[in-house]
Parts: sequence; structure tokens; C-alpha cells
Amino acid sequence: MTTQAEPRTTFEMGGMGHSVKRKEDPRFIRGQGEYIDDVNLPGQLWLDIVRSPYAHATIKGIDASEALKIPGVLAVITGADLEKAGLHWMPTLAGDKQMVLPTTTVMYQAQEVAAVVATTKYIAADGVAAVLVDYEPLPVIVDPFKALEPDAFVLRPDRGPDKQNNHIWHWESGDRAATDADLASADVHIEQDIYIPRIHVASIETCGCVADWNAVRGQLTLHMTSQAPHAIRTVLALVSGLPEQNIRVKTHDIGGGFGGKVPVYPGYVLAVVASLTVGKPVKWIEDRSENLQADSFARDYHIHAELGATKDGKITSLKAKTIADHGYTDAAADPSKYPAGLFNVITGSYDFPNAFVEVDGVYTNKPPGGVAYRCSFRVTEAVHAVERMVDILAHQIGKDPAQLRMENFIQPEQFPYKTPTGWSYDSGNYPAALQKAMDMINYAGLRKEQAEKRARGELMGIGISSFTEIVGAGPSHDFDILGIKMFDSCEIRVHPTGKVIARLGVQSQGQGHETTFAQIISEELGFPVADIKIEEGDTDTAPYGLGTYASRSTPVAGAATAVAARKIRDKARKLAAHLLEANEEDLEWEPGKFSVKGSPDRFKTIQEIAFAAYTNHPEGMEAGLEAVDYYDPPNLTFPFGSYICVVDIDKGTGQVHIRRFVAVDDCGNIINPMIVDGQIHGGLTMGLAPSLYEQITYDELGNNQAGTFLDYLLPTAVETPSWETGKTTTPSPHHPIGAKGVGESATVGAPPAIVNAVVDALWHLGVRNIDIPMTPQKIWAILHAKGVA
Ligand code: CDP
Repeated sequence: MTTQAEPRTTFEMGGMGHSVKRKEDPRFIRGQGEYIDDVNLPGQLWLDIVRSPYAHATIKGIDASEALKIPGVLAVITGADLEKAGLHWMPTLAGDKQMVLPTTTVMYQAQEVAAVVATTKYIAADGVAAVLVDYEPLPVIVDPFKALEPDAFVLRPDRGPDKQNNHIWHWESGDRAATDADLASADVHIEQDIYIPRIHVASIETCGCVADWNAVRGQLTLHMTSQAPHAIRTVLALVSGLPEQNIRVKTHDIGGGFGGKVPVYPGYVLAVVASLTVGKPVKWIEDRSENLQADSFARDYHIHAELGATKDGKITSLKAKTIADHGYTDAAADPSKYPAGLFNVITGSYDFPNAFVEVDGVYTNKPPGGVAYRCSFRVTEAVHAVERMVDILAHQIGKDPAQLRMENFIQPEQFPYKTPTGWSYDSGNYPAALQKAMDMINYAGLRKEQAEKRARGELMGIGISSFTEIVGAGPSHDFDILGIKMFDSCEIRVHPTGKVIARLGVQSQGQGHETTFAQIISEELGFPVADIKIEEGDTDTAPYGLGTYASRSTPVAGAATAVAARKIRDKARKLAAHLLEANEEDLEWEPGKFSVKGSPDRFKTIQEIAFAAYTNHPEGMEAGLEAVDYYDPPNLTFPFGSYICVVDIDKGTGQVHIRRFVAVDDCGNIINPMIVDGQIHGGLTMGLAPSLYEQITYDELGNNQAGTFLDYLLPTAVETPSWETGKTTTPSPHHPIGAKGVGESATVGAPPAIVNAVVDALWHLGVRNIDIPMTPQKIWAILHAKGVA
């Protein structure tokens, strides 16, 4: 561990390490952001969607005649219409198929059944109400274990003859034989079922788009809320047959993505089809209930975990068998080679000699799940499992959970560290992060207080989570989505007056890219942040990239930015040598200028050099000062942290009160400490949410029981504790600026700390695990059963 280096640049210049105020905030704070609802084009029409009330039903007929009589309703699109153009199914990013509109059968409640195009939003809604659909309900499976039973009906008969069951895929990693052998002979063998329920990203802005087909130019412009505009453009070209250069995907400001705006949803395709059909711009925006019922679902992992250890607490093996409920199609946006994402990072921060993980994907009558919700591909689930198992071991053998972690951590000198499931961790110092968290919270004092309170019959718990994240997908030899490699890009253009524009293949959804990527350029070239404009999300202008999710922007596009800037600096050196009539080797660089070694008063500023690139460049050199880099990372980055949570539990109500929460994070070198703090605060709240409040459940008929914000409980400022944050700095050795991603760390690390705290408070009563969300009702029932409530 080191502490963050002092910034090399002045605050006014604003390079790495400065808490530069976010350049994007003035427009957000003043309500002047441009979201999809703000995009209104001349002649624009509206599209609204007829949705199924049943989770599984045959469509016997669709009668649109009454809808079409409504003045202003222009068209009703059905699956039969799309079938004529072969557009009733579309590929998912996971290589499965998803219905755009059904022709015979609906597979989940709220599935799209038909689309109404009308002159206004309200007429479109009236049209939806007037479309009559004749359904014949069919049996429903919402339980993935039942879906796997041999006599279960087949949800997806459209798959090949050898796939007439509900099993999607099997994926495994690690050494099964060695892990089984170790578990069989281990002094301590722990088994635990852990369920990570289905949740929803619930971003403030729902999904939507404006599709604009210009028949004269043969040009389709799709304004949309996408985290991955380039990939969307390629998929659109492949599905529609339109030439890719005539498709422009343009994102605007995005009111929260969190993974939910990576996939392609039927609404986007329907808006495009409608615009192509009527030749006018067509807008589609989900309402809140549609959003909560039809798309953007995450998790739904049923994990059976086993851990082996010596009797004094040296962990030796970890095994996890998981059933992944994907709903009726696998629409997760995981890299092709990793259908269960990066779940095999499950050995976490610990030096496990043996590990084996297997995951089976299953179809049920639920909407598509598997969105990587602020989690780099199933890491939340993996971290939850290992942090719970380690904690159970500590309690079972009577060892302090902090002590047990310290004794089992991968030690700093073991990096780069190869895990038994094949990852190569770049760098880390786990003991330092935990020690810092313990010092910040006064761990010893809390344990003393807990003992005193327990003697008085009060319920207080202390929970730790020492997680390792895996972000920056990813190296092209292993990472692709639908075959497109997961590099990312940055193009920098320096204008003659020394002002800069940079365009990237990623897409901010509030993370502050307009500021932090400018800071990287400022660090590398010495232009003030104020002089650098960052643009993302327009496929006509930005270089190709795979977008922003899974905290990949800094590890991949951030690296591309630094490398592109360095290419510019190399050319600037040649220009400076020309201007100063010196040899390149005799020049010294400091942010913002080249000077002659030993003659500091002979220098050229980067602005003078930029001007010369267009006005006075040496013969034989190309004019201009531009560079582009497509960065293929050599490895992922592995940020980490240690969180400690203190809870008090009310015996009368079962209410969990988080009294303190200390989060020590390490994301390598930090570009903007204020933005990183903001990311951690937001992530912690998003970790609190599923721990105590949020879950999507279905009744046995497949009805979503949390389809509004009355039932799906988002924490507000009232429920959110005051987070205490700290940092250690362990740079990534392979990243050009030593940075790792950070956006998802807290969402991944927080839930097990909270669960571990609650179980710690109740362990002496015989409680060993509680599945999230730990609602007052659930806790009260436990306390009541134990005779405490
Ligand atoms: O991919 P995404 O932008 O969601 O995640 P990220 O790469 O973890 O970055 C989130 C925000 O934190 C961005 O504005 C980053 O530039 C910033 N960040 C930083 O300032 N220093 C780091 N070491 C990592 C991220």
C-alpha cells in the first residue's frame, strides 16, 4: 500500500488527484440536462405497448379494430406483422433469442404483445387500452428448480431437438476433483444455501428512444438511453439489414444506467420498425411500472456453497453450485466466454488452495434477467457467497472474523496472484485495508461494547466484508460480446488555439466522465481541464468502443485516453525540438511544456506547440495534432476494500439499524477523489438497498409482486446511514496511469458486511444465515421463533 501521490499539476490545470468540480454538474443542477424525454423532433409520433397480464398464455387473437378507430391512432403493430419481415425474434447479447413481439405465446407477465403508434402519448395509451387480445392461460413455472424437473413443460420449444428442456447452459471453473477431495478430508466442512434474489436497477430515467428514419437520405438516427451505443448500432445493422454507416445511435444525458441500459429491449426495435413504417420520428418511453415489470432485472442466483478449513481456521477449499434463473431467455450482457459472468472470482481476497464453481442457467416464466446491475458480471453474487462463508467459518470455530480474514488473506508479496479458478490478480494489500477500517471504526472497542450489550440482552452486531472486485473487461483474447472484442477507445484532437476535444467509445451515465477523462489528458499533456471537451455516445463521431458497464471505463477507455495523449506528446516533442532548434533527447517534459535540459528559460508551451502543428511544422511531418488509441488491456484490474458495519436490532420490531459503516476502498491511483467518494457513497446505498429493502418476487402465477415503488422499496436519504469512507492506494501495475475501476466496488462489498453484522448479532441465538433482504418482518419472525421478540 502507498498513499495517493501528491498531484503533479496545479489545481487550475486539474490533472490526476485533484477534486475538480464536475464539468457536467451545472447543467444537471439547473435542470438543463438533455434526457430522452427532452428529445422532440418535428412531426414526432408516439409508441405505446400492449402488455400481457399473464405470465404464460397462448394468444388466440389480437383485435386492433377498435384501437384503429380512435382519431390519432395510426397503426397497431403485432407479432404477425413483424414475422413477415423476420423481425419477430431478435438476438440477445448472450447469443440467445428474444421475442420482439410474440406470434403465438407470451412467456412472462408484462411481455410486449402489440405496439400502438399515435400522434400523441395519450392517444397511444388510449389505443393500447382498446386493443383486444384473446389469451388462453397456460401453466406457469417461476421456480427454476421445478423448471429443471424431468416432467417440467418446455418453455422454449423453439430451441433445437437436443434442447427440449429448460436448461440453458452449464459452466464450470476450477478443479472439481481436488476440491471434493479436500472437502471430504477437511477438519471443518461448512455447507450453506444462499439466495441472492432478483432485483431491479430502478434508474430514475426509464428506458426509451426516439427512432428517426429519413427515407430521403436512407438514414436511421436512434436517440436512446444506451450504455453501449456502438454495440447497439452493430446489432441494429445486423438485424435490420440497414448499412451500418447509415445508422447513427446517439445517446444524450442518461438518468442512471447501472447495467439496465446495456441490453436491447423490444421497445427500441418497435420504435425503429414504426419509424421505418410511417416515415416519421417515433418516440417510446416506458412508464415506471413497465420498467419495474418488464426489463432491467438482475441477480436471481441460488447458491449452494461449501467451505473446507483446518480446525484452527486455515481455509483450504471452496465449492459453489449455482442455479441461475434467467427468465424465459438469456439476455444477460456477459462476455461470450463467461455465461455466468466473472462469478469464478468467488475465492475473493483469500488464499484458497482449491476451488470449484459450477453454474447452470435455467429458463422460467419471468422477464429476462441477468443484467449486471452495478456489478461487473456476477461479482456481487460471488463476493456475497465467499464473505458469508468465511464469516460462518469464523463464528463456527470461535475465531474473530477479522482475525480469521487476516490469517487467510492473499499477502501483498504474493501478487501477481493466480487464483485456483484462473484469474491473475494484478495488485493488492488486503491486510492494510482491513487494518485501516478496523482503526477507523475502533474495532476492539466495538467488540467490547458488544459483549457488554449482549450480557444485557441487547442485539448488536459487527460485520466485515473484505472483497476483491474484478473490473476492466477486457483483454480481447478472452472477452467479447457477440464476437466484438471488448477493447475501448479514445480519439484526441488538439486544435490550433490549444483547445482540445476528445471522444471516447464509452458512455457516462452520471459517473463524471466529462471531468475525469479531461483530467487524464490534462495530466498527460498539461492542457487545463477547462480547455478540454469530452464527448461520448454519438456513433457518427466517437471511435468504436464497447461502452460503459462493469466499471470498465477507467480501466479500458481511461487507459486509451492516456495512451492517445502520450502519442500526442511524442509528436509534440518533435515539434518542440523543431521550434527550439534542439535535439529531442535534450528536451525535458513537465505538464504543459517542453524545455531544454539545463536551460529552463528555453521552453515551448503545449499551446505554442499546438499552434505550430498547424502553422509551422517541420518539413516532412504531417500537420495537425491528433491521435487515437484502441486499448486492449493486458489484464483486468482488481480493486478491493474492507467494509465494517455495526448494527443494532430492535427486538420489538425486527428493525435493523445501521449505526456505523466504514468503507475503506482501494482503486489504485485516483483521478478525482471527490468523484470516487461519490461513486462509493452511491454504491454503498445501492448495496444497502437489496440488503434491507429491495426484491422482486413473483407469485405462483408469475405475477410480479413489486411492480411499483409502493412495493419495491428504494432507500431514500432517510434510510441511508452516514457512510464513513477511507482509502488505501495500490496502483495497478499494468494500467498506464495505475488506476483501477471503482464504480461498482461498494455495491459489491456492502451487502455481505450488512448481513454479516446482522448474523453476528444473532449467532448466539443459533442463527447462521439470513437471505437478503433482511426485512423487519423476516428478522422479527426469527426473533420470535427464538423466543426473543
Ligand atoms: O465504467 P464506469 O465509469 O461506471 O466506472 P469507473 O471506471 O469505475 O469510473 C467511475 C468514475 O470514477 C469515473 O468518473 C472515473 O473516471 C472515476 N475514477 C477515478 O477518478 N479514479 C479511479 N481510480 C477510478 C475511477
